[in-house]
Amino acid sequence: MVNTTIKTTKSQEIFAAAQNLMPGGVSSPVRAFKSVGGQPIVFDHVKGAYIWDVDSNQYIDYVGTWGPAICGHAHPEVIAALHEALEKGTSFGAPSVLENILAEMVINAVPSIEMVRFVNSGTEACMAVLRLMRAFTGRDKLIKFEGCYHGHADMFLVKAGSGVATLGLPDSPGVPKSATTNTLTAPFNDLEAVKQLFEENRDEIAGVILEPIVGNAGFIAPDAGFLEGLRELTHEHGALLVFDEVMTGFRIAYGGAQEKFGITPDLTTLGKIIGGGLPVGAYGGRRDIMSMVAPAGSVYQAGTLSGNPLAMTAGIKTLELLQKPGTYEYLDSITQKLADGLLQIAKETGHAACGGQISGMFGLFFANGPVHNYEDAKKSDTGKFGRFHRGMLERGIYLAPSQFEAGFTSIAHTEEDIERTLKAAQDVMSTL
Ligand SMILES: Cc1ncc(COP(=O)(O)O)c(C=O)c1O
Repeated sequence: MVNTTIKTTKSQEIFAAAQNLMPGGVSSPVRAFKSVGGQPIVFDHVKGAYIWDVDSNQYIDYVGTWGPAICGHAHPEVIAALHEALEKGTSFGAPSVLENILAEMVINAVPSIEMVRFVNSGTEACMAVLRLMRAFTGRDKLIKFEGCYHGHADMFLVKAGSGVATLGLPDSPGVPKSATTNTLTAPFNDLEAVKQLFEENRDEIAGVILEPIVGNAGFIAPDAGFLEGLRELTHEHGALLVFDEVMTGFRIAYGGAQEKFGITPDLTTLGKIIGGGLPVGAYGGRRDIMSMVAPAGSVYQAGTLSGNPLAMTAGIKTLELLQKPGTYEYLDSITQKLADGLLQIAKETGHAACGGQISGMFGLFFANGPVHNYEDAKKSDTGKFGRFHRGMLERGIYLAPSQFEAGFTSIAHTEEDIERTLKAAQDVMSTL
């Protein structure tokens, strides 16, 4: 039996104070632990596969700051590169060679990207890509999938995943109807529904955007033929295909999910890993489309801190580390051991569960599977997930505080970390 008595006095004090200072005490909703119950722990520092809270408890981390920490937190080479970059200043607001270096790395890695624009977050990347899709096609309508999350811009807050799913929120107040009338939705993995939308909106749809592997409604893989079908349908209707690889980029493979599945979209959005833990986003794709972005073209998009030298530096070093042979094989093998182990334990302890894993991304639903889309995911026993989450936390395992978020491993996670995690899961599931 692992120690289950963690002292969280300081976390509680700090979070109580935070609630008077910031809405819900947090800077982003899912962090507040609303859907799993209990109080969030307040971090003090992070290193490798581990985090330490302000009460000095140590946890094995499977959130990895929501994806960026694929090399482990505070990797010494990333930190050293940042120290060096810091001496040269924190922001230029002007061109730097660092942007060229990271742009070249992204272009060489991601099959669809011939030109790239750096921004400051995944939200910004998705907002910008939508404007570009509309400008290029001269059409206004967009197809997105239920449970997919493309940041918090108005046009995407329709049946969105992530915090919207976690908190069970309706489409957000403050989003005018006019902002979402052109956003059409379909269930993930449902090609027929997409086909129908195209038929009902002939020559009006600018494109289709999706997470090629959903991570914001829990982990949902694309069915065989789904991505191929979307590629064919978009071609057939003169619409663009956009992969939102903010989460999957450089995680599923060095070239992202598009490399893994061999489907090349027209445009791609990135974030998370390419900033190595600093705020960043990017969008890129076909040269003829990207050439429309200002100042090369007339589609306006800009940013004071875009291409920030610290973010570029952390991104460059992170991608360099990921290029080492064996990175993705290792991520896949430890994550498979974890995902298979969790399912096996659930089965042995009598819990209905399903889940999966690709490379260093995984998920576990307390549901009779399989889960093909958000409707299936919503049938999960979220109460049970909450108890599981709390039990794991008490045993030093930090999982995403929501049934509707994927988990992430890093190259810093060891076989021993996975074994400790499975041991804790065994303890928790046998008492759920
Ligand atoms: C697939 C996807 N797109 C867009 C975003 C938004 O990115 P950001 O939180 O950096 O604005 C996220 C964030 O989790 C994401 O997972």
